[in-house]
Amino acid sequence: MKISENCKYVMNTYTRYPIKLVRGEGVKVWDDEGREYLDFVAGIAVNCLGYSHPEIISTIVSQAEKIIHCSNLYWNESQINLAKILCEKSFGHSVFFCNSGAEANEGALKLARKYGRLKYGEKRYKIITTLNSFHGRTYGALTATGQEKYHKHFEPLVGGFSYVKYNDIDELQSAVDESTCAVILEVIQGEGGVNEADETYLKEVRRLCNEHDILLIFDEVQTGIGRTGKLFAYEHSGVEPDIMTLAKGLGGGIPIGALVVNEKADVFSPGEHASTFGGNPLACEVGITVMNLVSQPNFLETVQKQGDFLKSKLLELKKKYNVIKRVKGKGLMIGCELNIEDAQEIVKLALKKGLLINAVSKNILRFVPPLIVTQEDVSKAIDILEETFIEMDFKSNM
Ligand SMILES: Cc1ncc(COP(=O)(O)O)c(C=O)c1O
Repeated sequence: MKISENCKYVMNTYTRYPIKLVRGEGVKVWDDEGREYLDFVAGIAVNCLGYSHPEIISTIVSQAEKIIHCSNLYWNESQINLAKILCEKSFGHSVFFCNSGAEANEGALKLARKYGRLKYGEKRYKIITTLNSFHGRTYGALTATGQEKYHKHFEPLVGGFSYVKYNDIDELQSAVDESTCAVILEVIQGEGGVNEADETYLKEVRRLCNEHDILLIFDEVQTGIGRTGKLFAYEHSGVEPDIMTLAKGLGGGIPIGALVVNEKADVFSPGEHASTFGGNPLACEVGITVMNLVSQPNFLETVQKQGDFLKSKLLELKKKYNVIKRVKGKGLMIGCELNIEDAQEIVKLALKKGLLINAVSKNILRFVPPLIVTQEDVSKAIDILEETFIEMDFKSNM
């Protein structure tokens, strides 16, 4: 791609690869020069039904012909229906809609503080979060994000947060006191490197939260909506949170975020939280289409099957190339830890060869393809990755 003069009008906040995407279909995208890519990034775990899914297109078109947006001063049927589906398919009692993951987490943090204050008074406001987490870029979500690199230049952050090691119940236990109102964590840390929480850890976290009447918030912005082979990642352990945040896959590409809460945590009153665009009929109608397709048992089984296949192919590559240290993750949220710090170079070369993947750190590649990916797509992606390894002169173990 020729970087045009006009790129300067877009604020310089992203390190972008030098291609411009213009079209997509299924698991493939094309750039403005007609080059085809197999997309294992999927808008960062957003395009769960791939590109140009006929049911998403027809939902958008038919809803746009009826009503795109109306204020939350009034009811709209699409919002009611999507809230009902989300509750019926989870532990949920009610739902608040917003537009992104960060916003959903902001809502969760505010809600937790209100709960603490209501029941125990104004000293109950502290939130415990985990190191290596990622919860978004707005101030509350940024403060909850346990990675210093994202905080740099933006201090002072929001007060009342403390950080503990992920998967370490003792650290969490020592951090809890009378002032703690909530614990927030990802069931699998996405941006932090595809790190899975142990089942025993989640069970202990739940027990601790119950013991102290602390709200447990699961940020399922990345893991939710079928990504891990279950509709929500908490289902793998059976540990239910009090609050779950969703975004990314829920709209299949249309911006939407949601805060799903149980009855106990349903404490907002009118006027305490709001969003102009949140829960608009267009986004909710697409959310309904996504939920109806993704929540089918055979759809989720296929996600699990393709995820296992992707994992097994990466493990085969690991046997052949010592550059791969570890393969981790669940369903179609897979991380590949490397023995070297060249992840970005691998991503760049794979892109030139027609495969989009991304690096969450110097030594971790992440694979989050559309959930409709086939075995053929996976095999092709692995072939391109192997060609990349060969061209980069990574040593074969064979
Ligand atoms: C777990 C998690 N939470 C929150 C966010 C923030 O979502 P958004 O970029 O939609 O604000 C992300 C984004 O990557 C995420 O992975």
